[in-house]
Amino acid sequence: MGEKSESDVSPVPRFNLSREEYLKMDPVEFRARFRERLHHTLEIQTYAAIHFGKALSPEQTKTVETLLELWQERGLPADLPDCRWGKTILQFARKTQTGETVDLSPYATKPVGKDGYELFRRIVGERRSVRHWSDREVPDSLIDEILRTGTWGAHSCNLQSVRFAVVREKNEPGLFRGADIPGGPVHLVALQDERVYRANPLNPVRNRLIDVGAAVQNMVLAAHALGLGGVWLTFSDAMLERLYKRFGLPEEVKIVTYLDVGYPAQTPAPPLRLDLDETVLVRI
Ligand SMILES: Cc1cc2nc3c(=O)[nH]c(=O)nc-3n(C[C@H](O)[C@H](O)[C@H](O)COP(=O)(O)O)c2cc1C
Repeated sequence: MGEKSESDVSPVPRFNLSREEYLKMDPVEFRARFRERLHHTLEIQTYAAIHFGKALSPEQTKTVETLLELWQERGLPADLPDCRWGKTILQFARKTQTGETVDLSPYATKPVGKDGYELFRRIVGERRSVRHWSDREVPDSLIDEILRTGTWGAHSCNLQSVRFAVVREKNEPGLFRGADIPGGPVHLVALQDERVYRANPLNPVRNRLIDVGAAVQNMVLAAHALGLGGVWLTFSDAMLERLYKRFGLPEEVKIVTYLDVGYPAQTPAPPLRLDLDETVLVRI
């Protein structure tokens, strides 16, 4: 018979590593593995147990318990969000195991209602790519809020790969030269730490750009909702090379895409979108 193809012989990825492996691995990868294991070995199962009465075995909490011990052993701060989230889910799981009720009412989302939906629809429909800005300075608080909405994007396996670089044009004029739009007042660059994807080699590579896209779509909407105008832009190879040099990022951190934002000095009309009768190709 013919030789085996590469995919036939590639090893099955290992998710549960030895303590030694967990202790010596890169901290970014360790935390991503923590988030991935938490998501796939406990979070999903715990909600299934709570909502559909699926039994949660006594063993189910083991992986996360071990990882929390390793978190401590590695000297990582206990107040980091992923650690706190791990403890919350663990608490839900333990209650479920002992037949206690888990009160999820504090997390119940309030319906946004008709007015809320109309506002949402306005934000989605009225957001425009704005390519001219006034000189008014954008406060750091607004920039941080936009970035925060980026971190709340959905992300495959909750790996949380998205990072940012923030550059005010006035601080480094011309750094982004070569773009369609010269001199946007604030450049928000979406980066991606590829180390996190080592946590789940089964996660298809195509998810990676989508992870960044989900973050940046939140950000353009947030910019608009905050009264700013933004445009999503494209790097040339020369710009990318210049930015890698200037940012001095770790090798595994990639520059993916960027936005310019500022106070708008133009009011573009909406470029109309195709109708649903052209865009829905399958409806079963
Ligand atoms: C990934 C991506 C790259 C883009 N690159 C550019 C660009 O290089 N220059 C530009 O003027 N607009 C760019 N845009 C903005 C689009 O031109 C714009 O979204 C589109 O024309 C629709 O207009 P609207 O955003 O106002 O709805 C980009 C948008 C995306 C999502």
